[in-house]
Amino acid sequence: MRRWIQTSVVMVMWLGWLGLIAACGDSEPVVAPTPEQSSTVSGPRTGSQIFASTCAACHGADGEGADNWMVRDDDGRLPPPPLNGDGHTWHHSDGVLFGIVSEGGLGLGAGSNMPAFKDELTRDEIIAVLEYVKSLWEGKEVDGVPIAQHQREFSETDPYPQSGS
Ligand code: HEC
Repeated sequence: MRRWIQTSVVMVMWLGWLGLIAACGDSEPVVAPTPEQSSTVSGPRTGSQIFASTCAACHGADGEGADNWMVRDDDGRLPPPPLNGDGHTWHHSDGVLFGIVSEGGLGLGAGSNMPAFKDELTRDEIIAVLEYVKSLWEGKEVDGVPIAQHQREFSETDPYPQSGS
């Protein structure tokens, strides 16, 4: 009698397991994302996406900057300047531009409202967003020379930092 009970308990447990396994088999199959889907979910963000989410709130949707960008506020700080080529951004080499975005504003005198992004953006993301900023300079010239070309010349001796440095 005891033996019979033991056997039935084991049998019931087995049936339970089989039922569970069968139930799992019925569930929706897991479909692996296609390469295109995974790149939209986790691929690198483009410079324009980074600009829209991280820079546009201060520098304007098209990099136009604040209207009064040359006038210091009551704290002696400068408002966000235009990055679209209407200001003097093109006077800075790649190395200097990288430093401003990575380390934040110039920190001169009263300080600066330009935040440091080194903990938020990778080196490649900083370069991508700066290259996007330069794309806004299309068609802008000084002395008959595109400002992007002036800026490239300044950058020859002061390029973006090497990766890993
Ligand atoms: C919280 C507002 C704010 C955000 C967000 C911000 N900036 Fe700025 N940025 C400033 C201000 C203010 C200055 C002027 C700093 C100064 O001269 O003290 C500045 C200056 C700069 C300069 C120097 C421009 C020049 O002509 O000298 C660059 C380049 C720049 N920002 C790029 C960026 C990029 C790229 C992003 C996004 C990753 C960004 N900023 C996000 C406020 C901001």
